[in-house]
Amino acid sequence: ARTIAVSGSASGIGESLAGMLRDAGETVIGIDRRDADVCADLGVPDGRASAVAETLEKAGGRLDAVVACAGVSDFTIMPVKVNFFGVVGLLDGLRPALAKAGAPRAAVVGSISGTHPVDDGTVRACLDLDEPAAIAAATKVEESGAGGRLYPSSKSALAQWMRRVCATPEWAGAGIPLNAIAPGVVRTPMTVPLFEDEGMFEIMKEAVPMPLNGFAGPEVIAAALRWLISPVNTHMTGQVIYVDGGAEATLRGADV
Ligand code: NAI
Repeated sequence: ARTIAVSGSASGIGESLAGMLRDAGETVIGIDRRDADVCADLGVPDGRASAVAETLEKAGGRLDAVVACAGVSDFTIMPVKVNFFGVVGLLDGLRPALAKAGAPRAAVVGSISGTHPVDDGTVRACLDLDEPAAIAAATKVEESGAGGRLYPSSKSALAQWMRRVCATPEWAGAGIPLNAIAPGVVRTPMTVPLFEDEGMFEIMKEAVPMPLNGFAGPEVIAAALRWLISPVNTHMTGQVIYVDGGAEATLRGADV
């Protein structure tokens, strides 16, 4: 069996993936704020450090794959802390343990929202890996009433970070493919409020048009993540793969 760390394992996409992997006989180390093998707050540096240390301990210092699913989608600075710095901190911390495996793999969850309007200053500070500056920039955005840009900013920055590091000696040179699945709208506890509010529902349908089979279940995204981290994936890296019912193709058209 392979040993696979999955963040966000207590709910939604991460929970679905962890279940699939366990059913297939893999050893899963779930990481989440609660109801997980490793309970930690990935939104703060201390929490990331303890998540990394406990995961390494449980894994015996060697990991076959890491999938970062934990995320939040409100209009505050939290997406910057969790979706960007939480993911990067976890992956950077666990990378040495991946490098010891025979067929190591890593994957993250981006979003179609990463193609929506962002706050450039927040994205820049994220890519500089300067968390205090990113939080300061994001706090200004939140206070100005444009907090809706922070979730897209976190996901855009994550995709750009991945593009920057994937081909370096630390990742490609160590034999570790690193890719992202970017979902459209997925039916999970995260999106329940969107489905319940008629106004939000209409905005969402326009922002994320899904002509192919409509809204997805979490198992659809989990299955795609599972392929990315399977031993079969020897050569795909640095890719953002939209599993979004045609949203990205509708929004960007031929502009690839
Ligand atoms: P969810 O809300 O069902 O699950 C997210 C999990 O992350 C929860 O178990 C939560 O406790 C955990 N988490 C949140 N903040 C944390 C923190 N500070 N420390 C540790 N764990 C934390 O959400 P869902 O839908 O499964 O989302 C998973 C990923 O997919 C997220 O990165 C999200 O941004 C992304 N995504 C979701 C979409 C959707 O429509 N549901 C669409 C596009 C992307």
